[in-house]
Amino acid sequence: MIEMRLADVAAVTGGRLHRASGEERVTAVEFDTRAIAPGGLFVALPGERVDGHDFAASAVAAGAAGVLAGREVDGPAVIAPPVARWTGTYLDAHDRDGSGAAVLAALARLAGHAVRALPGTTVVGVTGSSGKTSTKDLLAAVLAPLGPTVAPPGSFNNELGLPWTALHADAATRHLVLEFSARGPGHIAGLAAAVPPRIGVVLNVGSAHLGEFGSPAAIAQAKGELVEALPEDGVAVLNADDPAVAAMAVRTAARVVWFGRASDADVRAEDVGLEAGRARFTLVAAAGRARVALPLVGEHHVGNALAAATVALELGGTPDGVAAALGAAVPASQWRMEVTDRADGVTVINDAYNANPESMRAALTALAAVGEGRRTWAVLGRIAELGETSVAAHAAVAELAAALGVDELVAVATEDYPGARCVGDVAEAVALLRAELAPGDVVLVKASRAAGLERVAAQLLRETGLVSP
Ligand SMILES: Nc1ncnc2c1ncn2[C@@H]1O[C@H](COP(=O)(O)OP(=O)(O)O)[C@@H](O)[C@H]1O
Ligand SMILES: [Mg+2]
Repeated sequence: MIEMRLADVAAVTGGRLHRASGEERVTAVEFDTRAIAPGGLFVALPGERVDGHDFAASAVAAGAAGVLAGREVDGPAVIAPPVARWTGTYLDAHDRDGSGAAVLAALARLAGHAVRALPGTTVVGVTGSSGKTSTKDLLAAVLAPLGPTVAPPGSFNNELGLPWTALHADAATRHLVLEFSARGPGHIAGLAAAVPPRIGVVLNVGSAHLGEFGSPAAIAQAKGELVEALPEDGVAVLNADDPAVAAMAVRTAARVVWFGRASDADVRAEDVGLEAGRARFTLVAAAGRARVALPLVGEHHVGNALAAATVALELGGTPDGVAAALGAAVPASQWRMEVTDRADGVTVINDAYNANPESMRAALTALAAVGEGRRTWAVLGRIAELGETSVAAHAAVAELAAALGVDELVAVATEDYPGARCVGDVAEAVALLRAELAPGDVVLVKASRAAGLERVAAQLLRETGLVSP
């Protein structure tokens, strides 16, 4: 982050100084008191169990230069101005007085100010229903060789994680990669107005959060807000294989560059093959061709890799350089297609971070590919937030598992999968697998976040020694 005085923070955010001289030097922004070091600006937010405002004094004791707060706190602070309409942030359930929304709005302004002060930094935004985090990690992998790159850890993609990430950029940063998520209309537009991207990637439009959005058209409308925010000299990187994404071309002032398997895509994959579930393909672009071998499991990563490659080629990468970086990309964010071989020959695929119908399809397809000639298990929990499409969507998953030849379908804490063997909870799932798994079996574990099925994977991996991470 570029250094600022607390008085500058107040000026940029429209806030007022409280118990502060304004001369305090801010060199980092943190929302977790454990991460506060001298010079830190502590972002106080209400949470499910505790309210960050109550930790102002301990943040200051840990060296914080001040606190960005929604109301007066015990220490030097900038008090963010209240926002008129404050519902709609990810905090809503805990934000009784709107102080959280005020702080998030101030943080957005601060991040926007900080990034605008960095003309040498290209902001790359990525959105889509599935694959944002995976693609963000691939983008970091392909852009890092081209220059200093800042990208968020994990899935920092909302009104807190996105500006927090942006504030990590400094004068040396060439690329700032940001993940844009939406739980409803206007969210991406809001984030993009705060920290405007010059390059915007849209991966796909699926049915994640369909219950909240209401219709696939509403999801497409929301994802397309990213390319609507691009400037004329920007680049919209769009998936030629997804009609709902292709339709976004008319919604942007930016130049459009197409990626995909389609033969007319600007950056495309040819001769796609799978080896133990890992995709190999020839990357084809105007600049040339190069063979790519992805270490990531799942054919769905071809599209993600093409999206990342398109951005890297726009920013000066060569096909050979991009192919090498993609070939070295390891899963960087946890619980997404983490494939581990146990010493006894059982393979565990931990894809338990989250689930929607499209990522279920991708994961089951990968299970079938990895498990070719072996006994395969799909240990699945509920897919949340599907609204009235829920029953049909779960039935379709069960049908797909059968069609792909998945041998055992185990449903954890749900009766939504027709024909599945049902267990009540994680412990019962682990007990069943302990009793029945045999050497050589492949187990996929996947559900929406709330199910916490990574615990099944963790238990299975605790059983015996591991061969490869
Ligand atoms: N292009 C894709 N199409 C379908 N599923 C995908 C794609 N990319 C990743 N996935 C799967 O979607 C799930 C979430 O991946 P992640 O990269 O965290 O996406 P997001 O950040 O959009 O939630 C994982 O199970 C992952 O394997
Ligand atoms: Mg994500």
